[in-house]
Amino acid sequence: MAPKRVMLAVFFVIYSLMFFSAKSETWVKGGYWYSRSKLPSSGINSALYTHLHCAFADVNSTSYELSLSEPDEKKFSNFTDTVKQKNPSVLTLLSIGGGDASYSTFSSMVSNSSFRKSFIDSSIRAARLYGFQGLELGWASANSSSDMYNMGVLFEEWRAAMKLETGNSSHAQLILTAAVRFQPGLDSRSFPVEAMERYLDWVTVQAYDYYTPQRYNFTSAHAALYDPTSNVSTDYGISAWISRGLSANKMVLGLPFYGYAWTLANPVENGIGAPATGAAIRRGGAINYKDIRDYVLRYGANVMFNATYVVNYCTVGSTWISFDDVEVVRIKVAYAKDKKLRGYIAWETPYDDNWMLSQAAAQEGNNDGRNKRRLLAILLSTSAAAILLLGCFLIYHFRIKKLKSKGNLSNYNENKPQLLAIVLSTAATAILLPGCFLICYFWLRELKSKGNVQR
Ligand SMILES: *[C@@H]1O[C@H](CO)[C@@H](O)[C@H](O)[C@H]1NC(C)=O
Ligand SMILES: *[C@@H]1O[C@H](CO)[C@@H](O)[C@H](O)[C@H]1NC(C)=O
Ligand SMILES: *[C@@H]1O[C@H](CO)[C@@H](O)[C@H](O)[C@H]1NC(C)=O
Ligand SMILES: *[C@@H]1O[C@H](CO)[C@@H](O)[C@H](O)[C@H]1NC(C)=O
Ligand SMILES: *[C@@H]1O[C@H](CO)[C@@H](O)[C@H](O)[C@H]1NC(C)=O
Ligand SMILES: *[C@@H]1O[C@H](CO)[C@@H](O)[C@H](O)[C@H]1NC(C)=O
Ligand SMILES: *[C@@H]1O[C@H](CO)[C@@H](O)[C@H](O)[C@H]1NC(C)=O
Ligand SMILES: *[C@@H]1O[C@H](CO)[C@@H](O)[C@H](O)[C@H]1NC(C)=O
Repeated sequence: MAPKRVMLAVFFVIYSLMFFSAKSETWVKGGYWYSRSKLPSSGINSALYTHLHCAFADVNSTSYELSLSEPDEKKFSNFTDTVKQKNPSVLTLLSIGGGDASYSTFSSMVSNSSFRKSFIDSSIRAARLYGFQGLELGWASANSSSDMYNMGVLFEEWRAAMKLETGNSSHAQLILTAAVRFQPGLDSRSFPVEAMERYLDWVTVQAYDYYTPQRYNFTSAHAALYDPTSNVSTDYGISAWISRGLSANKMVLGLPFYGYAWTLANPVENGIGAPATGAAIRRGGAINYKDIRDYVLRYGANVMFNATYVVNYCTVGSTWISFDDVEVVRIKVAYAKDKKLRGYIAWETPYDDNWMLSQAAAQEGNNDGRNKRRLLAILLSTSAAAILLLGCFLIYHFRIKKLKSKGNLSNYNENKPQLLAIVLSTAATAILLPGCFLICYFWLRELKSKGNVQR
Protein backbone atom coordinates (compact mmCIF):
# COMPACT_ATOMS: atom_id res chain seq x y z
CA MET A 1 0.00 0.00 0.00
CA ALA A 2 2.91 2.38 0.78
CA PRO A 3 4.01 3.02 -2.86
CA LYS A 4 0.43 3.83 -3.75
CA ARG A 5 0.23 6.36 -0.93
CA VAL A 6 3.44 7.96 -2.15
CA MET A 7 2.05 8.08 -5.65
CA LEU A 8 -1.10 9.78 -4.41
CA ALA A 9 0.94 12.31 -2.46
CA VAL A 10 3.05 13.06 -5.54
CA PHE A 11 -0.11 13.38 -7.59
CA PHE A 12 -1.50 15.98 -5.16
CA VAL A 13 1.72 17.95 -5.03
CA ILE A 14 1.97 18.11 -8.84
CA TYR A 15 -1.69 18.94 -9.09
CA SER A 16 -1.49 21.83 -6.61
CA LEU A 17 1.70 23.16 -8.19
CA MET A 18 -0.03 23.17 -11.57
CA PHE A 19 -2.58 25.64 -10.24
CA PHE A 20 -0.36 27.83 -8.17
CA SER A 21 2.17 28.19 -10.97
CA ALA A 22 -0.65 29.44 -13.22
CA LYS A 23 0.24 32.90 -11.86
CA SER A 24 0.99 34.90 -15.00
CA GLU A 25 3.73 37.46 -15.72
CA THR A 26 2.84 41.12 -15.30
CA TRP A 27 0.90 42.53 -18.23
CA VAL A 28 2.89 45.62 -19.17
CA LYS A 29 0.83 48.79 -19.54
CA GLY A 30 3.69 51.05 -20.55
CA GLY A 31 4.17 54.64 -21.57
CA TYR A 32 7.00 56.96 -22.47
CA TRP A 33 7.56 60.43 -21.13
CA TYR A 34 9.98 62.55 -23.15
CA SER A 35 11.87 65.36 -21.40
CA ARG A 36 11.05 67.71 -24.29
CA SER A 37 7.31 67.24 -23.87
CA LYS A 38 5.33 70.17 -22.52
CA LEU A 39 3.66 68.09 -19.84
CA PRO A 40 5.82 67.80 -16.70
CA SER A 41 6.17 64.30 -15.26
CA SER A 42 3.85 65.35 -12.42
CA GLY A 43 1.06 65.64 -15.02
CA ILE A 44 1.17 61.96 -16.01
CA ASN A 45 -1.82 59.93 -14.86
CA SER A 46 0.43 57.12 -13.71
CA ALA A 47 -2.47 55.14 -12.23
CA LEU A 48 -3.22 53.99 -15.80
CA TYR A 49 0.27 52.48 -16.23
CA THR A 50 2.42 49.70 -14.78
CA HIS A 51 5.69 50.93 -16.35
CA LEU A 52 6.81 54.44 -17.29
CA HIS A 53 9.91 55.12 -19.39
CA CYS A 54 11.79 58.36 -18.89
CA ALA A 55 13.47 59.38 -22.17
CA PHE A 56 16.35 59.91 -23.07
CA ALA A 57 19.73 59.60 -21.45
CA ASP A 58 22.75 59.80 -23.77
CA VAL A 59 26.24 58.27 -23.99
CA ASN A 60 29.31 60.50 -23.54
CA SER A 61 31.39 60.39 -26.74
CA THR A 62 34.75 60.27 -24.97
CA SER A 63 34.19 58.48 -21.67
CA TYR A 64 31.35 56.25 -22.99
CA GLU A 65 29.58 56.71 -19.68
CA LEU A 66 25.87 57.40 -19.48
CA SER A 67 25.29 61.13 -19.59
CA LEU A 68 22.45 63.54 -18.89
CA SER A 69 22.28 67.22 -19.74
CA GLU A 70 21.97 69.47 -16.72
CA PRO A 71 18.29 70.36 -17.23
CA ASP A 72 17.47 66.70 -17.89
CA GLU A 73 19.28 65.60 -14.76
CA LYS A 74 17.01 67.88 -12.72
CA LYS A 75 13.89 66.42 -14.34
CA PHE A 76 15.04 62.79 -14.34
CA SER A 77 16.31 62.72 -10.76
CA ASN A 78 12.82 63.05 -9.32
CA PHE A 79 10.87 61.38 -12.15
CA THR A 80 10.37 58.17 -10.18
CA ASP A 81 9.31 59.85 -6.95
CA THR A 82 6.96 62.10 -8.90
CA VAL A 83 5.11 59.40 -10.86
CA LYS A 84 4.91 57.14 -7.81
CA GLN A 85 2.84 59.74 -6.00
CA LYS A 86 -0.25 58.81 -8.04
CA ASN A 87 0.67 55.11 -8.30
CA PRO A 88 3.17 53.77 -5.76
CA SER A 89 3.50 50.46 -7.62
CA VAL A 90 4.39 51.91 -11.02
CA LEU A 91 7.89 50.88 -12.16
CA THR A 92 10.17 53.30 -14.00
CA LEU A 93 12.83 52.72 -16.65
CA LEU A 94 15.47 55.08 -17.93
CA SER A 95 15.60 54.98 -21.74
CA ILE A 96 18.98 55.57 -23.35
CA GLY A 97 19.49 56.74 -26.92
CA GLY A 98 16.51 57.66 -29.09
CA GLY A 99 16.33 59.19 -32.53
CA ASP A 100 18.86 61.97 -31.89
CA ALA A 101 21.58 59.76 -30.42
CA SER A 102 24.95 59.79 -32.19
CA TYR A 103 25.43 56.73 -34.39
CA SER A 104 29.22 56.78 -34.11
CA THR A 105 29.26 57.07 -30.30
CA PHE A 106 26.94 54.10 -29.85
CA SER A 107 28.75 52.08 -32.51
CA SER A 108 32.14 52.66 -30.80
CA MET A 109 30.74 52.05 -27.35
CA VAL A 110 29.42 48.58 -28.19
CA SER A 111 32.56 47.63 -30.13
CA ASN A 112 35.11 47.83 -27.30
CA SER A 113 34.89 45.86 -24.07
CA SER A 114 36.34 48.61 -21.88
CA PHE A 115 33.91 51.16 -23.37
CA ARG A 116 31.05 48.75 -22.79
CA LYS A 117 32.15 48.33 -19.18
CA SER A 118 32.22 52.11 -18.64
CA PHE A 119 28.76 52.38 -20.11
CA ILE A 120 27.27 49.44 -18.22
CA ASP A 121 28.70 50.39 -14.82
CA SER A 122 27.69 54.03 -15.15
CA SER A 123 24.18 53.09 -16.33
CA ILE A 124 23.60 50.87 -13.30
CA ARG A 125 24.96 53.57 -10.98
CA ALA A 126 22.63 56.15 -12.57
CA ALA A 127 19.60 53.86 -12.31
CA ARG A 128 20.21 53.34 -8.59
CA LEU A 129 21.10 56.98 -7.95
CA TYR A 130 17.87 58.27 -9.49
CA GLY A 131 15.66 55.39 -8.32
CA PHE A 132 14.81 53.78 -11.69
CA GLN A 133 13.84 50.10 -11.66
CA GLY A 134 15.14 49.41 -15.14
CA LEU A 135 17.13 50.51 -18.18
CA GLU A 136 16.30 50.50 -21.88
CA LEU A 137 18.58 50.77 -24.89
CA GLY A 138 17.03 52.63 -27.81
CA TRP A 139 19.62 52.52 -30.58
CA ALA A 140 17.53 52.92 -33.71
CA SER A 141 20.44 53.74 -36.04
CA ALA A 142 22.37 50.45 -35.57
CA ASN A 143 22.87 49.44 -39.18
CA SER A 144 25.72 46.95 -39.69
CA SER A 145 26.22 43.29 -38.86
CA SER A 146 29.00 44.22 -36.41
CA ASP A 147 26.72 46.76 -34.68
CA MET A 148 24.10 44.07 -34.24
CA TYR A 149 26.59 41.45 -33.05
CA ASN A 150 28.18 43.88 -30.57
CA MET A 151 24.75 44.91 -29.31
CA GLY A 152 24.16 41.26 -28.40
CA VAL A 153 27.49 41.18 -26.51
CA LEU A 154 26.47 44.36 -24.68
CA PHE A 155 23.18 42.75 -23.59
CA GLU A 156 25.04 39.69 -22.27
CA GLU A 157 27.52 41.75 -20.25
CA TRP A 158 24.85 44.19 -19.09
CA ARG A 159 22.68 41.38 -17.73
CA ALA A 160 25.68 39.75 -16.00
CA ALA A 161 26.54 43.08 -14.35
CA MET A 162 22.93 43.52 -13.23
CA LYS A 163 22.89 40.03 -11.69
CA LEU A 164 26.11 40.72 -9.86
CA GLU A 165 24.88 44.08 -8.63
CA THR A 166 21.70 42.54 -7.24
CA GLY A 167 23.73 40.14 -5.13
CA ASN A 168 25.25 43.18 -3.41
CA SER A 169 22.16 45.28 -2.91
CA SER A 170 18.80 44.98 -1.26
CA HIS A 171 17.12 46.04 -4.51
CA ALA A 172 15.35 43.79 -6.98
CA GLN A 173 17.37 43.12 -10.14
CA LEU A 174 17.04 45.90 -12.70
CA ILE A 175 14.75 45.36 -15.68
CA LEU A 176 16.60 45.40 -19.03
CA THR A 177 14.81 46.15 -22.29
CA ALA A 178 15.53 47.45 -25.79
CA ALA A 179 13.46 49.45 -28.25
CA VAL A 180 13.52 47.75 -31.66
CA ARG A 181 12.14 48.14 -35.17
CA PHE A 182 8.79 46.62 -36.10
CA GLN A 183 10.53 43.60 -37.62
CA PRO A 184 13.91 41.98 -36.92
CA GLY A 185 15.30 42.18 -40.46
CA LEU A 186 16.26 39.24 -42.60
CA ASP A 187 19.76 40.10 -43.83
CA SER A 188 23.04 40.10 -41.90
CA ARG A 189 22.02 43.39 -40.28
CA SER A 190 19.18 41.82 -38.35
CA PHE A 191 18.85 42.26 -34.58
CA PRO A 192 20.68 39.85 -32.22
CA VAL A 193 17.49 37.91 -31.52
CA GLU A 194 19.14 35.11 -29.55
CA ALA A 195 20.84 37.51 -27.11
CA MET A 196 17.62 39.49 -26.79
CA GLU A 197 15.65 36.37 -25.96
CA ARG A 198 18.20 35.31 -23.37
CA TYR A 199 19.26 38.54 -21.65
CA LEU A 200 16.40 41.05 -21.99
CA ASP A 201 13.19 41.12 -19.98
CA TRP A 202 11.38 42.23 -23.13
CA VAL A 203 11.67 44.45 -26.18
CA THR A 204 9.57 47.47 -27.13
CA VAL A 205 8.42 46.94 -30.71
CA GLN A 206 8.21 50.35 -32.38
CA ALA A 207 5.22 49.49 -34.52
CA TYR A 208 4.82 52.86 -36.25
CA ASP A 209 6.26 55.35 -38.77
CA TYR A 210 5.97 52.80 -41.60
CA TYR A 211 5.06 55.63 -43.98
CA THR A 212 5.49 59.37 -43.55
CA PRO A 213 4.26 62.26 -45.74
CA GLN A 214 7.83 63.39 -46.40
CA ARG A 215 8.93 60.07 -47.84
CA TYR A 216 5.79 58.83 -49.60
CA ASN A 217 3.55 60.58 -52.10
CA PHE A 218 0.43 58.61 -51.15
CA THR A 219 -1.71 58.64 -48.00
CA SER A 220 -1.15 55.74 -45.67
CA ALA A 221 -1.74 54.12 -42.30
CA HIS A 222 1.65 54.69 -40.66
CA ALA A 223 1.01 52.04 -38.02
CA ALA A 224 -1.28 49.62 -39.88
CA LEU A 225 -2.06 46.48 -37.92
CA TYR A 226 -2.60 44.62 -41.20
CA ASP A 227 -1.79 45.33 -44.82
CA PRO A 228 -3.09 42.97 -47.49
CA THR A 229 -0.80 44.49 -50.14
CA SER A 230 2.61 44.50 -48.43
CA ASN A 231 4.72 43.15 -45.60
CA VAL A 232 4.91 46.52 -43.90
CA SER A 233 2.45 46.00 -41.06
CA THR A 234 2.47 45.35 -37.34
CA ASP A 235 1.07 41.85 -37.72
CA TYR A 236 3.76 40.95 -40.23
CA GLY A 237 6.49 42.39 -37.96
CA ILE A 238 5.31 40.56 -34.83
CA SER A 239 5.07 37.28 -36.75
CA ALA A 240 8.57 37.86 -38.16
CA TRP A 241 10.03 38.38 -34.68
CA ILE A 242 8.35 35.19 -33.48
CA SER A 243 9.54 33.18 -36.47
CA ARG A 244 13.09 34.43 -35.85
CA GLY A 245 12.91 32.95 -32.34
CA LEU A 246 11.77 35.74 -30.03
CA SER A 247 9.07 34.55 -27.61
CA ALA A 248 5.77 36.37 -27.87
CA ASN A 249 5.92 37.22 -24.16
CA LYS A 250 9.19 39.09 -24.76
CA MET A 251 7.41 41.70 -26.88
CA VAL A 252 5.64 44.85 -25.78
CA LEU A 253 3.63 46.42 -28.60
CA GLY A 254 4.33 50.09 -29.30
CA LEU A 255 1.18 52.21 -29.71
CA PRO A 256 1.49 55.61 -31.44
CA PHE A 257 -0.47 58.33 -29.63
CA TYR A 258 0.01 60.45 -32.79
CA GLY A 259 -0.76 60.39 -36.48
CA TYR A 260 0.38 62.04 -39.72
CA ALA A 261 -1.22 64.76 -41.82
CA TRP A 262 -0.85 64.60 -45.61
CA THR A 263 -1.75 67.15 -48.28
CA LEU A 264 -3.98 65.46 -50.84
CA ALA A 265 -3.20 65.89 -54.54
CA ASN A 266 -6.94 65.85 -55.16
CA PRO A 267 -9.42 66.35 -52.26
CA VAL A 268 -11.93 64.02 -53.93
CA GLU A 269 -9.50 61.11 -53.79
CA ASN A 270 -9.23 60.71 -50.04
CA GLY A 271 -8.96 57.04 -49.14
CA ILE A 272 -5.91 55.11 -48.01
CA GLY A 273 -3.36 55.12 -50.83
CA ALA A 274 -4.66 58.36 -52.42
CA PRO A 275 -2.07 60.56 -54.23
CA ALA A 276 -0.49 63.13 -51.92
CA THR A 277 2.03 65.93 -52.23
CA GLY A 278 3.63 66.04 -48.79
CA ALA A 279 2.97 66.94 -45.17
CA ALA A 280 0.17 69.14 -43.83
CA ILE A 281 -0.47 71.11 -40.62
CA ARG A 282 3.02 70.52 -39.15
CA ARG A 283 6.49 70.28 -40.62
CA GLY A 284 6.94 66.57 -41.28
CA GLY A 285 3.21 66.04 -40.71
CA ALA A 286 3.46 64.32 -37.29
CA ILE A 287 0.61 65.48 -35.07
CA ASN A 288 -0.31 64.28 -31.60
CA TYR A 289 -3.66 62.76 -30.68
CA LYS A 290 -4.73 65.72 -28.55
CA ASP A 291 -4.19 68.12 -31.47
CA ILE A 292 -5.90 65.73 -33.89
CA ARG A 293 -8.96 65.66 -31.63
CA ASP A 294 -8.98 69.47 -31.44
CA TYR A 295 -8.70 69.65 -35.24
CA VAL A 296 -11.52 67.13 -35.75
CA LEU A 297 -13.81 69.04 -33.36
CA ARG A 298 -12.94 72.45 -34.81
CA TYR A 299 -13.75 71.39 -38.39
CA GLY A 300 -16.47 68.88 -37.51
CA ALA A 301 -14.55 66.28 -39.49
CA ASN A 302 -16.03 62.85 -40.06
CA VAL A 303 -13.68 60.22 -38.59
CA MET A 304 -13.61 57.05 -40.70
CA PHE A 305 -12.50 53.59 -39.65
CA ASN A 306 -10.84 51.18 -42.05
CA ALA A 307 -10.97 47.61 -40.72
CA THR A 308 -8.67 46.23 -43.43
CA TYR A 309 -5.69 48.19 -42.09
CA VAL A 310 -7.16 48.96 -38.63
CA VAL A 311 -6.78 52.74 -38.73
CA ASN A 312 -8.87 55.89 -38.36
CA TYR A 313 -8.64 58.79 -40.78
CA CYS A 314 -10.38 62.03 -41.64
CA THR A 315 -10.39 64.58 -44.45
CA VAL A 316 -10.74 68.36 -44.18
CA GLY A 317 -10.42 69.98 -47.61
CA SER A 318 -7.07 68.81 -48.93
CA THR A 319 -5.77 67.82 -45.48
CA TRP A 320 -5.84 64.11 -44.73
CA ILE A 321 -4.96 62.72 -41.28
CA SER A 322 -4.52 59.07 -40.31
CA PHE A 323 -4.27 58.11 -36.66
CA ASP A 324 -5.17 55.60 -33.96
CA ASP A 325 -8.40 56.57 -32.19
CA VAL A 326 -9.92 54.78 -29.18
CA GLU A 327 -11.29 51.86 -31.23
CA VAL A 328 -7.94 51.20 -32.91
CA VAL A 329 -6.13 51.27 -29.56
CA ARG A 330 -8.65 48.76 -28.20
CA ILE A 331 -8.19 46.43 -31.18
CA LYS A 332 -4.39 46.64 -30.95
CA VAL A 333 -4.38 45.86 -27.21
CA ALA A 334 -6.77 42.95 -27.83
CA TYR A 335 -4.38 41.82 -30.57
CA ALA A 336 -1.44 41.95 -28.13
CA LYS A 337 -3.44 39.85 -25.66
CA ASP A 338 -4.49 37.40 -28.32
CA LYS A 339 -0.91 36.92 -29.53
CA LYS A 340 0.20 36.48 -25.89
CA LEU A 341 2.56 39.45 -26.04
CA ARG A 342 3.85 40.97 -22.79
CA GLY A 343 1.82 44.18 -23.07
CA TYR A 344 1.85 47.53 -24.82
CA ILE A 345 3.66 50.86 -24.54
CA ALA A 346 2.53 54.27 -25.73
CA TRP A 347 4.70 56.87 -27.43
CA GLU A 348 4.12 59.15 -25.66
CA THR A 349 1.77 59.61 -22.70
CA PRO A 350 1.56 63.45 -22.89
CA TYR A 351 0.10 63.16 -26.44
CA ASP A 352 -3.10 61.64 -25.04
CA ASP A 353 -6.30 63.68 -24.91
CA ASN A 354 -7.78 63.66 -21.41
CA TRP A 355 -6.28 60.12 -20.95
CA MET A 356 -8.85 58.64 -23.33
CA LEU A 357 -6.40 56.35 -25.17
CA SER A 358 -4.57 55.39 -21.97
CA GLN A 359 -7.87 54.49 -20.34
CA ALA A 360 -9.10 52.46 -23.32
CA ALA A 361 -5.82 50.52 -23.45
CA ALA A 362 -5.78 49.85 -19.71
CA GLN A 363 -9.43 48.72 -19.76
CA GLU A 364 -8.89 46.35 -22.67
CA GLY A 365 -6.07 44.78 -20.66
CA ASN A 366 -7.97 44.63 -17.37
CA ASN A 367 -10.98 42.84 -18.87
CA ASP A 368 -8.89 39.80 -19.46
CA GLY A 369 -7.19 40.10 -16.07
CA ARG A 370 -10.60 39.92 -14.44
CA ASN A 371 -11.50 36.88 -16.56
CA LYS A 372 -8.26 35.19 -15.59
CA ARG A 373 -8.91 35.76 -11.89
CA ARG A 374 -12.43 34.43 -12.30
CA LEU A 375 -11.11 31.37 -14.11
CA LEU A 376 -8.50 30.74 -11.42
CA ALA A 377 -11.17 31.02 -8.70
CA ILE A 378 -13.34 28.46 -10.49
CA LEU A 379 -10.41 26.10 -10.99
CA LEU A 380 -9.23 26.41 -7.42
CA SER A 381 -12.66 25.80 -5.94
CA THR A 382 -13.36 22.79 -8.19
CA SER A 383 -10.04 21.19 -7.48
CA ALA A 384 -10.39 21.96 -3.77
CA ALA A 385 -13.78 20.21 -3.81
CA ALA A 386 -12.30 17.25 -5.66
CA ILE A 387 -9.35 17.05 -3.29
CA LEU A 388 -11.67 17.17 -0.28
CA LEU A 389 -13.76 14.38 -1.77
CA LEU A 390 -10.68 12.28 -2.32
CA GLY A 391 -9.51 13.05 1.21
CA CYS A 392 -12.82 11.79 2.62
CA PHE A 393 -12.48 8.55 0.68
CA LEU A 394 -8.94 8.10 1.94
CA ILE A 395 -9.91 8.65 5.57
CA TYR A 396 -12.78 6.25 5.09
CA HIS A 397 -10.37 3.75 3.54
CA PHE A 398 -7.89 3.90 6.40
CA ARG A 399 -10.67 3.56 8.97
CA ILE A 400 -11.88 0.40 7.21
CA LYS A 401 -8.34 -0.86 6.89
CA LYS A 402 -7.74 -0.37 10.61
CA LEU A 403 -10.95 -2.19 11.46
CA LYS A 404 -10.19 -4.95 8.96
CA SER A 405 -6.63 -5.43 10.18
CA LYS A 406 -8.05 -6.14 13.60
CA GLY A 407 -10.34 -8.73 12.04
CA ASN A 408 -9.88 -10.81 8.91
CA LEU A 409 -7.00 -9.73 6.65
CA SER A 410 -7.88 -11.82 3.61
CA ASN A 411 -11.28 -10.14 3.59
CA TYR A 412 -9.68 -6.75 3.30
CA ASN A 413 -7.51 -7.81 0.37
CA GLU A 414 -10.64 -8.79 -1.50
CA ASN A 415 -11.86 -5.23 -1.11
CA LYS A 416 -8.67 -3.73 -2.48
CA PRO A 417 -9.67 -3.56 -6.18
CA GLN A 418 -12.93 -1.89 -5.22
CA LEU A 419 -11.13 0.72 -3.15
CA LEU A 420 -8.65 1.33 -5.96
CA ALA A 421 -11.55 1.92 -8.32
CA ILE A 422 -13.03 4.50 -5.95
CA VAL A 423 -9.73 6.33 -5.52
CA LEU A 424 -9.01 6.30 -9.27
CA SER A 425 -12.44 7.53 -10.24
CA THR A 426 -12.25 10.37 -7.71
CA ALA A 427 -8.80 11.27 -9.02
CA ALA A 428 -10.18 11.20 -12.56
CA THR A 429 -12.98 13.52 -11.45
CA ALA A 430 -10.42 15.83 -9.88
CA ILE A 431 -8.70 16.13 -13.27
CA LEU A 432 -11.73 16.02 -15.55
CA LEU A 433 -13.90 18.56 -13.75
CA PRO A 434 -11.42 21.49 -13.96
CA GLY A 435 -10.54 20.22 -17.47
CA CYS A 436 -14.15 20.72 -18.56
CA PHE A 437 -14.12 24.21 -17.12
CA LEU A 438 -10.90 24.99 -18.98
CA ILE A 439 -12.31 23.78 -22.29
CA CYS A 440 -15.48 25.84 -21.76
CA TYR A 441 -13.40 28.88 -20.88
CA PHE A 442 -11.19 28.72 -23.98
CA TRP A 443 -14.16 27.99 -26.18
CA LEU A 444 -15.96 31.08 -24.83
CA ARG A 445 -12.79 33.15 -25.24
CA GLU A 446 -12.45 32.02 -28.85
CA LEU A 447 -16.04 33.11 -29.51
CA LYS A 448 -15.38 36.44 -27.82
CA SER A 449 -12.22 37.17 -29.79
CA LYS A 450 -14.02 36.35 -33.06
CA GLY A 451 -16.60 38.91 -31.97
CA ASN A 452 -13.80 41.43 -31.49
CA VAL A 453 -12.49 40.99 -35.01
CA GLN A 454 -15.91 41.57 -36.49
CA ARG A 455 -16.39 44.77 -34.49
C1 LIG B 1 32.29 63.51 -21.34
O1 LIG B 1 33.24 62.96 -20.47
C2 LIG B 1 34.42 63.72 -20.40
C3 LIG B 1 35.45 62.93 -19.59
O2 LIG B 1 34.87 62.44 -18.39
C4 LIG B 1 34.10 65.07 -19.78
O3 LIG B 1 35.27 65.87 -19.72
C5 LIG B 1 33.07 65.78 -20.67
O4 LIG B 1 32.66 66.97 -20.07
C6 LIG B 1 31.87 64.87 -20.87
N1 LIG B 1 30.99 65.49 -21.87
C7 LIG B 1 29.72 65.70 -21.65
C8 LIG B 1 28.96 66.32 -22.77
O5 LIG B 1 29.17 65.41 -20.60
C1 LIG C 1 11.17 67.73 -9.61
O1 LIG C 1 12.14 68.54 -10.22
C2 LIG C 1 11.61 69.60 -11.00
C3 LIG C 1 12.76 70.29 -11.72
O2 LIG C 1 13.81 70.55 -10.85
C4 LIG C 1 10.83 70.54 -10.08
O3 LIG C 1 10.26 71.56 -10.83
C5 LIG C 1 9.73 69.75 -9.38
O4 LIG C 1 9.08 70.55 -8.45
C6 LIG C 1 10.30 68.51 -8.68
N1 LIG C 1 9.20 67.72 -8.21
C7 LIG C 1 9.19 67.08 -7.05
C8 LIG C 1 7.99 66.27 -6.72
O5 LIG C 1 10.13 67.17 -6.26
C1 LIG D 1 39.41 49.68 -26.58
O1 LIG D 1 39.80 51.02 -26.51
C2 LIG D 1 40.98 51.22 -25.76
C3 LIG D 1 41.18 52.72 -25.63
O2 LIG D 1 41.04 53.36 -26.87
C4 LIG D 1 42.15 50.56 -26.50
O3 LIG D 1 43.35 50.72 -25.78
C5 LIG D 1 41.83 49.07 -26.64
O4 LIG D 1 42.82 48.45 -27.42
C6 LIG D 1 40.48 48.87 -27.29
N1 LIG D 1 40.13 47.47 -27.23
C7 LIG D 1 39.72 46.82 -28.28
C8 LIG D 1 39.37 45.37 -28.07
O5 LIG D 1 39.57 47.35 -29.38
C1 LIG E 1 25.07 53.57 -40.70
O1 LIG E 1 24.54 54.85 -40.35
C2 LIG E 1 25.55 55.86 -40.25
C3 LIG E 1 24.90 57.12 -39.72
O2 LIG E 1 23.67 57.35 -40.33
C4 LIG E 1 26.22 56.06 -41.60
O3 LIG E 1 27.24 57.03 -41.50
C5 LIG E 1 26.83 54.73 -42.05
O4 LIG E 1 27.36 54.84 -43.34
C6 LIG E 1 25.77 53.63 -42.04
N1 LIG E 1 26.41 52.36 -42.28
C7 LIG E 1 25.90 51.43 -43.09
C8 LIG E 1 26.67 50.16 -43.20
O5 LIG E 1 24.86 51.58 -43.68
C1 LIG F 1 29.89 43.79 -4.74
O1 LIG F 1 30.54 43.63 -3.49
C2 LIG F 1 31.89 43.22 -3.59
C3 LIG F 1 32.44 42.94 -2.21
O2 LIG F 1 31.92 43.83 -1.28
C4 LIG F 1 32.67 44.32 -4.32
O3 LIG F 1 34.01 43.93 -4.47
C5 LIG F 1 32.06 44.52 -5.70
O4 LIG F 1 32.69 45.59 -6.36
C6 LIG F 1 30.57 44.82 -5.59
N1 LIG F 1 30.01 44.83 -6.91
C7 LIG F 1 29.16 45.75 -7.32
C8 LIG F 1 28.69 45.62 -8.70
O5 LIG F 1 28.78 46.67 -6.61
C1 LIG G 1 5.22 59.30 -56.52
O1 LIG G 1 6.60 58.92 -56.48
C2 LIG G 1 6.91 57.91 -57.40
C3 LIG G 1 8.34 57.49 -57.16
O2 LIG G 1 9.06 58.43 -56.44
C4 LIG G 1 6.69 58.43 -58.82
O3 LIG G 1 7.00 57.43 -59.75
C5 LIG G 1 5.24 58.84 -58.96
O4 LIG G 1 5.02 59.43 -60.21
C6 LIG G 1 4.84 59.83 -57.89
N1 LIG G 1 3.40 60.05 -57.94
C7 LIG G 1 2.85 61.24 -57.84
C8 LIG G 1 1.36 61.30 -57.91
O5 LIG G 1 3.49 62.28 -57.66
C1 LIG H 1 6.24 38.96 -47.61
O1 LIG H 1 7.12 38.07 -46.95
C2 LIG H 1 6.98 36.74 -47.36
C3 LIG H 1 7.92 35.91 -46.54
O2 LIG H 1 7.76 36.19 -45.19
C4 LIG H 1 7.30 36.62 -48.84
O3 LIG H 1 7.09 35.29 -49.25
C5 LIG H 1 6.40 37.54 -49.63
O4 LIG H 1 6.78 37.54 -50.97
C6 LIG H 1 6.48 38.95 -49.10
N1 LIG H 1 5.47 39.77 -49.76
C7 LIG H 1 5.71 41.00 -50.21
C8 LIG H 1 4.56 41.69 -50.85
O5 LIG H 1 6.80 41.52 -50.11
C1 LIG I 1 -9.75 50.16 -46.54
O1 LIG I 1 -9.10 50.96 -47.50
C2 LIG I 1 -8.72 50.23 -48.68
C3 LIG I 1 -7.92 51.17 -49.57
O2 LIG I 1 -8.59 52.35 -49.79
C4 LIG I 1 -9.97 49.69 -49.36
O3 LIG I 1 -9.59 48.94 -50.50
C5 LIG I 1 -10.70 48.80 -48.40
O4 LIG I 1 -11.90 48.35 -48.96
C6 LIG I 1 -11.01 49.54 -47.10
N1 LIG I 1 -11.54 48.58 -46.15
C7 LIG I 1 -12.64 48.82 -45.43
C8 LIG I 1 -13.09 47.71 -44.55
O5 LIG I 1 -13.23 49.89 -45.48
